[in-house]
Amino acid sequence: MTHARLPAARPPIQVIAHRGASDDAPEHTLAAYRKAIEDGADALECDVRLTADGRLVCVHDRRVNRTSNGRGAVSALELADLAALDFGSWKDREESPDWDPLPGELTSVLTLERLLELVTEVRATGRPLQLAIETKHPTRWAGQVEERLLHLLKRFELDAPAPAGEASPVRVMSFSARSLYRIRAAAPALPTVFLMQFVSPRLRDGRLPAGARIAGPGMRIVRNHPGHIERLHRAGHRVHVWTVNEPEDVELCVRLGVEAIITNRPKQVLAQLGRS
Ligand code: G3P
Ligand code: CA
Repeated sequence: MTHARLPAARPPIQVIAHRGASDDAPEHTLAAYRKAIEDGADALECDVRLTADGRLVCVHDRRVNRTSNGRGAVSALELADLAALDFGSWKDREESPDWDPLPGELTSVLTLERLLELVTEVRATGRPLQLAIETKHPTRWAGQVEERLLHLLKRFELDAPAPAGEASPVRVMSFSARSLYRIRAAAPALPTVFLMQFVSPRLRDGRLPAGARIAGPGMRIVRNHPGHIERLHRAGHRVHVWTVNEPEDVELCVRLGVEAIITNRPKQVLAQLGRS
């Protein structure tokens, strides 16, 4: 008796911890990334900005006011200034009753270098943890963000093509097509994700800008224009959605067959997907 061939099983949706497990611990701190690793996240997301002395640090906002006890723009502060600040105590304990504030390294400013060390340590145990790095406001620095980023990835040997059948340990994301173009030109092996807040009329047919290989629509696009996700898939692109925190949004992403979910709540999302 002959059987119809079953379609190849799809790999599970990748769960990426947005700024670490940022619902449970202060975003972009070692505490948040360690929690995401403990929760079982497949990958970690981080934003990177350049300090006044040319170091890449993981901070989302232009200024440090919201997430630390200091004030001022990251670009106007040196790493030593940032190292003197506390990036943990702003997080409301009532909002995160499970999180016990921790002193020192766990809540101080996180350099990209330190995060790469952490990812390298975890990968050395055999767990294929990945990192999704977002370049913030790269246009302001005329290529310096990408240059510094690529320099660090090379130092950690994270910029080389992945062996056949394995995923790249790092991908670079940006709202800036120019930033992705720079990355692609200098390091063609690195996957690049074009982040979208809305569907630009130029890209309505599911195309991506030159330099981008993966589509990164916001959850608002997924909810309001699910047909666009189908177009992106038809155009052959993988789709990584941010920021997916609510169970009904996870459900919609699963229905649409997206390849990755970027979430502040990796533990809950993994549980919903039956992976905990
Ligand atoms: O993962 C993409 C997402 O982080 C983009 O938005 O503002 O959280 O960096 P934002
Ligand atoms: Ca981000």
